[in-house]
Amino acid sequence: MKKTTLLIGLSTLFFVYAEAQQKKAQPKKEGTPKQEDTLQVIKSGLSSDPAFVWKTNQDEAQAICSKYRSREEMPGKDLQKVIQLSQADVKYPQYGLYWGDWKEGKKVVESPRGGRFAGYGFSDNPMDKGGNCYACHLIEKGVPGGTMGPNLYQYGKRWGVTKENMNTPEGMEKLRAVYNIVYNSWSAFPCSSMPRFGYHGGLSPNDVANIVAFLLHPESPVNK
Ligand code: HEC
Repeated sequence: MKKTTLLIGLSTLFFVYAEAQQKKAQPKKEGTPKQEDTLQVIKSGLSSDPAFVWKTNQDEAQAICSKYRSREEMPGKDLQKVIQLSQADVKYPQYGLYWGDWKEGKKVVESPRGGRFAGYGFSDNPMDKGGNCYACHLIEKGVPGGTMGPNLYQYGKRWGVTKENMNTPEGMEKLRAVYNIVYNSWSAFPCSSMPRFGYHGGLSPNDVANIVAFLLHPESPVNK
């Protein structure tokens, strides 16, 4: 896995972007990161800024994934270890798992504004987050999307979620299973290239609950 190359590539891209933005000298909008802050992060090279230093160290699960070129090469013991570490990390909403608001989930799914290393961290703008799910998935009928991940159209139907069973223990188990995948994809697909959204703090438990409602709810356009 070439995570380091990707990180360097992304940082370079951002640097070029930041320079271009500086030249444009646009009027400041509410929630826009301060230029001094952005420059400080770039100069720190990510290695000394406390807000970013954690990204330069591999966690235990990543270190295991990095030992192998693909999941297929991984021995069962290491697959299990990554799943176990990732499951232990999953956090649920404060008052427990619930069916979120699929309309709110749809907004986060469609927003590409998530996980950008310089934007996230010192922006107070609550819309500065998103799942960018369409980059890798086809989801609603007729909406273009990526094919790195599986097609999620009619995902709730495929799980057999109906109006009648969604609030039964069976329906809640399905909700939990998909919540775990979206919160930390490695809890079900060890070392996946799907981001570990909740683990990285890119999405909150309530965001994840709303997204899962968008994928599974019988009334969501995903299941029409
Ligand atoms: C960088 C690409 C990428 C992004 C972005 C991404 N995914 Fe995925 N996703 C994948 C891949 C790849 C898989 C297949 C898992 C595997 O085998 O590693 C997957 C699997 C899934 C699955 C499980 C499908 C199944 O087979 O049951 C769900 C659900 C899912 N993604 C939802 C989402 C949602 C919701 C978002 C946005 C919040 C998202 N994904 C963003 C790449 C991505």
